[in-house]
Amino acid sequence: MSDAVIEKVDNAGVVRLTINRPKALNALNSDVLSALEKELVELEQHPSLRAVLITGAGEKSFVAGADIAEMRDKTPEQARAFAGQALRTIKRLETLPVPVVALVNGFCLGGGCELALACDWAVASDNAIFGQPEVLLGVIPGFGGTQRLPRRVGPAMALDLVTTGRKIDAHEALRIGLVNRVMPQAELEDYVAELTKQLMGNGPQSVRGAKQAVHDGMDQDLDSALALETSLFAFCFAGEEQTEGMSAFVEKRKPDF
Ligand code: HXC
Repeated sequence: MSDAVIEKVDNAGVVRLTINRPKALNALNSDVLSALEKELVELEQHPSLRAVLITGAGEKSFVAGADIAEMRDKTPEQARAFAGQALRTIKRLETLPVPVVALVNGFCLGGGCELALACDWAVASDNAIFGQPEVLLGVIPGFGGTQRLPRRVGPAMALDLVTTGRKIDAHEALRIGLVNRVMPQAELEDYVAELTKQLMGNGPQSVRGAKQAVHDGMDQDLDSALALETSLFAFCFAGEEQTEGMSAFVEKRKPDF
């Protein structure tokens, strides 16, 4: 691991971003957010991006939140600017056109949980701890938690978590739908490699279209969202993937996307 606060490894279009501040449990300060945003801006232009994995350095923490020491002396205006920087960065992650997978390898608190909430997939190690403990610090979530958490787990559970600040383990996170899978820490990498392989085996344009339909549809009324789905579905028939996928089925062979 280098000194860079964000490590990037590109393996044939599967890009792994590692938040690398393990001594502070990978807490998000302005430097980390700036570096992350810079990488994401580059990824938006990546010609053959297939998936993005995001994790924290070390085995103890994904991200233990926004950096409390850096936030402590902020004025309201500075706090607004800091939240704005984080919201913009997290939105860039969320709107990447390919699946984004969070490998949650330990503490996933406050801004860390808010980062994971912007990912399409969250795979957690069984020692992971989740929570929105901001009220214990005299603030509320500011990186999107009050909005993305209820959309992910429903308002009742989101209100429970944001008003008590209580921490939950990986199994409870799985039960409430905050994460997709829980693995022993030693198996996390193998599982994510398998998941990535599965995603890579599918048509890249249809994976992008499926993600876009879910994300864009969530913010629309049902009829508009269904119309969006129909447009994206029909658009699939303008490309080669649909011909190949359906021909492969009819010809009893594996598709070659
Ligand atoms: C800055 C942090 C940090 C954080 C941990 N560290 N979390 N530094 N910001 N969020 C630092 C500690 O100060 C310490 O540094 C080192 O990481 C190791 O942490 P310890 O506390 O010694 O580890 P441990 O006893 O194992 O406890 C782990 C922990 C605890 C339970 C995760 O660190 C903790 O409660 N952290 C804060 C979690 C939190 O409240 N997150 C939400 C932040 S608010 P030193 O130098 O002493 O070794 C937020 C708001 C977002 O995210 C919206 C803002 C707009």
